[in-house]
Amino acid sequence: MKLVLVLIVSVFSVMQNLHVNIDNTKWKAPESVDKVANPIPVDIASISAGKQLFNKLCWTCHGQTGKGNGPASTNLNAKPTDFSSVEFNEQTDGAIFWKISEGRGSMASFKTSLSAKQRWQLVNYLRTLK
Ligand code: HEC
Repeated sequence: MKLVLVLIVSVFSVMQNLHVNIDNTKWKAPESVDKVANPIPVDIASISAGKQLFNKLCWTCHGQTGKGNGPASTNLNAKPTDFSSVEFNEQTDGAIFWKISEGRGSMASFKTSLSAKQRWQLVNYLRTLK
């Protein structure tokens, strides 16, 4: 089952990467990843670990409070979404985790530079920004 999911995710990521720089459409994660459950409890430990990572790696584009207005955001063609918005928070944890893992355009892929645990900690932190 896990293998099947991994395969589905890989196929989608290849498809996604094929149109990486020409894609200005709304970024949607494949439906299959909605079923991927968040294995990391939403608690003070995971949220503060996520916050530390965010303040190191993400704020320059996403802004200190996740509004998408960081100092480096002015040069980006696709603007990062406001993490406090309904639109952002409507998606599943699995979808957010997938986006952090895969990246798109100027949003880097973090699946090799961060562990899965760290990426889930980031998901838990981003949820607190609403
Ligand atoms: C170089 C700038 C930059 C950095 C650094 C960056 N991002 Fe992004 N991020 C973006 C851009 C631009 C988008 C929008 C991409 C698109 O829609 O094609 C984005 C999109 C996202 C999304 C999807 C939002 C949505 O609409 O669902 C998530 C989640 C995200 N970033 C999380 C992170 C996290 C977590 C980090 C740090 C580990 C990070 N980003 C670092 C630029 C950046």
